[in-house]
Amino acid sequence: MCGIIACAGVRRASEILYKGLCDLEYRGYDSAGISVKRGGEIVTVKRAGRVSAIECARRLGGSAGIGHTRWATHGRPSDENAHPHCRGGFSVVHNGIIENYAVLKEELIAEGDEFISQTDSEVVVHLLAKYYRGDLKEAVLRTVARLKGAFALCILHEDFEGFVAVKYRNPVIVGCGNGCFAASDMPALSGIAARVAVLKDGQIAFACEGGFTFCDFEGNAASLTFSPLPPQARSGGTAGFPHYMIKEINEIPAAIRQTAAAFETEGCARAFAKLRRKKFSQVMLCGCGTAYHAALAAAYAGEELIGVPVRAETAGEYRYRRRGSLAGTLFAAVSQSGETADTVEAARTAKAAGALVAAVTNVPYSALTSVADIVVPVRAGAEICVAATKSYCGQCAALGLMFSALAGGRHYRQAKRALGEAEGMCAGAISHCAVEDVARACASASAVYFIGRGADYPAALEGSLKLKEVSYVPGEGFPAGELKHGPIALIDGGTLTVAVITDPALAEKTASAVEQVCARGGRAAVVCAEGCEPEGLRERAEFFITVPRSALFPAIISAIPLQLIAYRTAVILGRDPDKPRNLAKSVTVE
Ligand code: M6R
Repeated sequence: MCGIIACAGVRRASEILYKGLCDLEYRGYDSAGISVKRGGEIVTVKRAGRVSAIECARRLGGSAGIGHTRWATHGRPSDENAHPHCRGGFSVVHNGIIENYAVLKEELIAEGDEFISQTDSEVVVHLLAKYYRGDLKEAVLRTVARLKGAFALCILHEDFEGFVAVKYRNPVIVGCGNGCFAASDMPALSGIAARVAVLKDGQIAFACEGGFTFCDFEGNAASLTFSPLPPQARSGGTAGFPHYMIKEINEIPAAIRQTAAAFETEGCARAFAKLRRKKFSQVMLCGCGTAYHAALAAAYAGEELIGVPVRAETAGEYRYRRRGSLAGTLFAAVSQSGETADTVEAARTAKAAGALVAAVTNVPYSALTSVADIVVPVRAGAEICVAATKSYCGQCAALGLMFSALAGGRHYRQAKRALGEAEGMCAGAISHCAVEDVARACASASAVYFIGRGADYPAALEGSLKLKEVSYVPGEGFPAGELKHGPIALIDGGTLTVAVITDPALAEKTASAVEQVCARGGRAAVVCAEGCEPEGLRERAEFFITVPRSALFPAIISAIPLQLIAYRTAVILGRDPDKPRNLAKSVTVE
């Protein structure tokens, strides 16, 4: 995904845009660019690299402008492929994918246009220039009518004082304060916009000094209600921590507390009362990456609690699988951002097949919530680090509460109590887990494998994902019982295996897998919940980390040492854990 921002009716547009791009940089950091309006002229600066590569653009000034930070999809990161794209008095930034760009490009080339970039986005500015005959609205309407795919656009034209913002399947938030603003998310508007509104799919905003006017893709006038920028939309910077990742790990107890509090609101209670009245024959959980791991972890306890089959699958696989009717199915789509294309599309598919769709998300105004029948709140607060940490724990908390609420009042009260205890356990684990030696071992290992059984298996998958994405140390997560069926061939003295043990009933079994690793000369570390320690394991494993035991929310507690190990390994190896190479915070393309 990419980040887009725009402003109008301001004194130093370039300063506002530059700061906004720094806030949006988690959405992509392959290239950055800014166009500003100075008098009747549009001035553009764009470069490959991070936002800091266009630091000089801060001095451009201007009364209106647009900006972009890119996660490359079509065309490698380069100056030419950086946005904004300019032509015929227009300048455009785009987040999304123009699926029919090849056909449009061919048509435009046949008409004599020359393209400068390899991007899909450049066709938008060519279409605008083609259709502009002195009427900006008409040019925008004719252009969007030709586009297929997903697009959030901000547009400048030399004859228009302000900017135009267009939303289709990718987010655009508009804001007003001392000027008019638009951005891909709310944190980028904090400090500049006092009041905000979320554009709906198929809406266009025209912003100038006098304020906003809105219309739909047919040109009919539309209206939007602005409300104060919510406090949780403010990221608050790194607050004295060296990186967002460690700041956000430290915010896990607050994420759990706020998520539990959100379940107490009247709206949430009503939604669950409605859900309890329905008789589901199965529950399907879907998500990508970390969100999928939270779903998988929740499926174990969920099935036990509600007594019907609960399955979890990655959204990218689920959406393309053929299936029959999903009547009687609760389909819970789990996504921090609520923007991940595969997850949103999986939810749409499930809804079309008759499922009741729940959005388990940290972003209440996201695309996912607009598809869903009900919203299951995660309240982790703005998560800026590309690696998900506090949102994972928030998702585990929300899914645990969701299943216990479905199981009935007694279970819900029990889960609330257990979550309150887990919050304290997390705070303890964050300050007491000594991970430095394990992180050093990870940093020098040829590969790191994570193993676990039962609900510790998704924890192992998540530990492995976290480590590789921020440190680039290769590795994998396996069910502990699978090790001997093949993966054990990978074990040698250069590898480290991290075992997660939080269930006393399965502890001895995972301990056997650790024994097998040690017997082959592999190094081993164990993350073990209190009271689950198999005899003699502490002596055999090279590293042993004890965490408090939460019977209902084990994945929340074991996540803390695993996230800390990943963070410290990244720092030891000199990586930037907040912005790992090749990644973006969420993936709005297939
Ligand atoms: O916003 P989402 O939760 O839908 O994002 C899903 C994944 O892209 C995300 O969890 C990704 O795996 C993170 N980089 C993990 O740290």
